[in-house]
Amino acid sequence: MTISSNTNRFTVYAPGRVNLLGEHTDYNGLPVLPMAIDRRIRVYGAPRMDAMVAASREDIPQESVEFALRSPIPKHPQGHWINYVKAGMQGVLDSLTQSETQEIRGCDLMVSGTIPQGVGLSSSSALVVASALALLKANRIDRPPIALAEQMAEAEHYTGTRGGGMDQAACLLSRAGHLLKIDFFPLRAAPVSLPDGVTVVICDSLIRAKKSETALKAYNLRALECRFAVLLLRRFLHRKGDPADFQRLGDLLLPPWNLGYPELARLAEEALKDSYGYSELCSALGDEEAIRSLLLDYSFDDDGENLSFACGKRFRHVIRDAQRVELGKRLLQERNVRGFGRLMNEGHDSARNDFEISRPELDRLTEAAREQGALGSRLTGAGFGGCTVNLVYSDEAERFRQAMYESCYAMTQPKPPIEETVLNTDPADGAQVVNESSIC
Ligand code: GLA
Repeated sequence: MTISSNTNRFTVYAPGRVNLLGEHTDYNGLPVLPMAIDRRIRVYGAPRMDAMVAASREDIPQESVEFALRSPIPKHPQGHWINYVKAGMQGVLDSLTQSETQEIRGCDLMVSGTIPQGVGLSSSSALVVASALALLKANRIDRPPIALAEQMAEAEHYTGTRGGGMDQAACLLSRAGHLLKIDFFPLRAAPVSLPDGVTVVICDSLIRAKKSETALKAYNLRALECRFAVLLLRRFLHRKGDPADFQRLGDLLLPPWNLGYPELARLAEEALKDSYGYSELCSALGDEEAIRSLLLDYSFDDDGENLSFACGKRFRHVIRDAQRVELGKRLLQERNVRGFGRLMNEGHDSARNDFEISRPELDRLTEAAREQGALGSRLTGAGFGGCTVNLVYSDEAERFRQAMYESCYAMTQPKPPIEETVLNTDPADGAQVVNESSIC
């Protein structure tokens, strides 16, 4: 690889994220409140004259992967890191004009970074975004960050997850010192200042929620349950004579329905049972073929008939968590950090009880954090493992970190370092591309 001798070389920085309120709301068309963290993916890059990409990782330099920028880019086996690079680049290819496609040039990339992997801080979306930015930079193409964030949300489906758009938007659009209130379909983002005097601390449960394995299935099942819940709601409204044709739950907040959150919650309670077995779902929807095709779409094959679909419970969480985002934004603007912390605690309870994405290890971490004086503590991101996010008074942050470390990791052998388990983080800026000439 010849990055260092190329005079057009550049560096892309793309941060991870932590989410404070609104979990699994994004793909339902409802808001979230994350922030970028000061841990990031770094990609050294240089344009090439041909349409090839050669990428390697600083931690495994012997494993360089080369591929042609010809659509569709063939995938590596599920879970391979290069698929995140390919996802970003396929997303860019899909967005090019015909003449841009004909002239596309590849790049050499060297990937490194400081975001711990597989802990739910979105290192994979940061890599997707960084790769797309590298390809755009190598071809001197500008994209408004908001358009790129929308494209990258879709692009990441290449890797097999049916995620929403929170991670890519937080990575591209965040602003230092701020959380980011994000709305979807269409994507909108507004910074919300984190009040002085409070600090965000992240605790790692040490349970790895790898997107390539069971957690990926569990995540996709949640997204599918929400999809079925929409179909059930539509059928319920049709029966009442409303020819409702909405795609996502969040559409019901918009014209012509204009529901408020309390009405939405009442409608979901009335229309949906907590849970449906496969045959119950078929008779409630009256269209087994559509169900089978959706199961396939979300990567469930013949195992679908053994699943149950907790549509009512899932929407109970989604509606309340989205409402917490709206309320939480207001409380932050009023500097009511105690009230905000209470919303975080409630968010954890509903993620555990109704969305069922917590784990005992995450519950224990949140309980310990509250005992140690956290204003609020909850799981963050997809769930099923990964991290908790905690809001603490800044002048207590160091004591809090030490106390969490001593009480929660004392029995872990070998004992992991505190910097890797109880992380201090400041809200950081979104992704940036820097020309090599301006790097110190
Ligand atoms: C993952 C997905 C996001 C979002 C969260 C849960 O991080 O990538 O789109 O759905 O889970 O809030």
